Amino acid sequence: MRTMKKMASLLSVCVFLLCCFAVVASQGCDRLVAVGENFNVSSGYKPQPTENLKWKFNGNILFFKRSGKVIAGKPDDINNDGSLKLTNLKMNQAGRYTSEVFDINGKERATKTTNLCILDPVKKPTLNITCLASEVVFTCSHDPQPDGTKQYDTIHYKWFLNDYMISNETETSMKRKVAETKNLPVSCEVGNKVSSAKSDSLTHTCIEPVKKPEINGTCKDSEVIITCLAPQQPDNAQFKWLQDGEVIVNETEMSLTISSAESKNKNFSCEVYNQASSEKSVSFSHSCVGSTFLGLPVELFGVSIWVYIGGGAGEFQ
Ligand SMILES: *[C@@H]1O[C@H](CO)[C@@H](O)[C@H](O)[C@H]1NC(C)=O
Ligand SMILES: *[C@@H]1O[C@H](CO)[C@@H](O)[C@H](O)[C@H]1NC(C)=O
Ligand SMILES: *[C@@H]1O[C@H](CO)[C@@H](O)[C@H](O)[C@H]1NC(C)=O
Ligand SMILES: *[C@@H]1O[C@H](CO)[C@@H](O)[C@H](O)[C@H]1NC(C)=O
Ligand SMILES: *[C@@H]1O[C@H](CO)[C@@H](O)[C@H](O)[C@H]1NC(C)=O
Ligand SMILES: *[C@@H]1O[C@H](CO)[C@@H](O)[C@H](O)[C@H]1NC(C)=O
Repeated sequence: MRTMKKMASLLSVCVFLLCCFAVVASQGCDRLVAVGENFNVSSGYKPQPTENLKWKFNGNILFFKRSGKVIAGKPDDINNDGSLKLTNLKMNQAGRYTSEVFDINGKERATKTTNLCILDPVKKPTLNITCLASEVVFTCSHDPQPDGTKQYDTIHYKWFLNDYMISNETETSMKRKVAETKNLPVSCEVGNKVSSAKSDSLTHTCIEPVKKPEINGTCKDSEVIITCLAPQQPDNAQFKWLQDGEVIVNETEMSLTISSAESKNKNFSCEVYNQASSEKSVSFSHSCVGSTFLGLPVELFGVSIWVYIGGGAGEFQ
């Protein structure tokens, strides 16, 4: 009993699945055409002058020519080869077109069904640019595009950098490093099965923010060399040096060499900046005395103090 029930339910699942497949299959398009285009639906068989030709749309008769006389529709509706002439297509003309050819005795010679799908052509997209910290996001705006929800109406996006296609995925946006895409024109293309359109090219003007620099110092004879460690900065980054908060040098120099005696107990810091941002190192005060010493920074309340370890002629502080 139980087995029977199981089988019955299995059977109904199968029937259900079959139904689904049938529905999906019926959505298949034999031809895809854009709204506004002209299209000839082929009858697949050129009727003889004596033969009768009937065209149906979703089961309704559009055209019927019998014994050389047009009974339904107009003579102008078909071409010489029996194909159905469709002009300036509208959405509501999508569907099943069936041609039937009969000989004078009413015997069927040829029947052909074409499932015609009609799509809106895509519209020219606009490109949007959003600057993130060190990245830039390009968005291919698709707001006025066909909805793309029908199985056969999938919309694709292609991305171009300097006119070379770099991606043809379905993503509507593309993220790249600011530096990588500097001065490069970017454009996107939207397309579906019947049309495609490309955006204008744009070049981003995002400015990558600078990164916080570090500072270190080396005692050398009666001088101290203070170095601003700022690797991997955007290439428009500039530097300046501050002593007790006042700008003392406005240069791209990354090292400052000063007399250790004169700079005793002064706080130094370096700042990296560009149009987008600026970052200051912690402040630094040296304790170089006399000759060559190497120091290690010890940060205390945000102030980097250099404690010297090592030999030579100097004093340990
Ligand atoms: C339809 O067929 C006619 C006659 O062969 C031809 O002149 C016309 O260009 C065709 N139209 C299309 C859209 O293919
Ligand atoms: C794209 O940019 C335009 C104008 O710059 C703006 O009006 C629109 O909302 C933006 N669209 C998106 C998706 O960010
Ligand atoms: C998309 O890109 C892949 C890999 O680059 C390529 O194989 C494929 O043919 C491309 N498709 C189209 C439609 O250009
Ligand atoms: C550094 O440059 C700024 C802007 O160019 C200027 O206002 C300032 O006086 C300069 N300071 C020094 C110490 O050169
Ligand atoms: C250096 O910075 C420290 C901590 O901010 C401060 O206590 C000290 O007075 C500063 N020295 C000078 C000379 O400005
Ligand atoms: C400070 O940085 C410079 C440049 O990277 C390096 O050559 C030097 O050894 C560093 N000094 C210390 C004490 O870390």
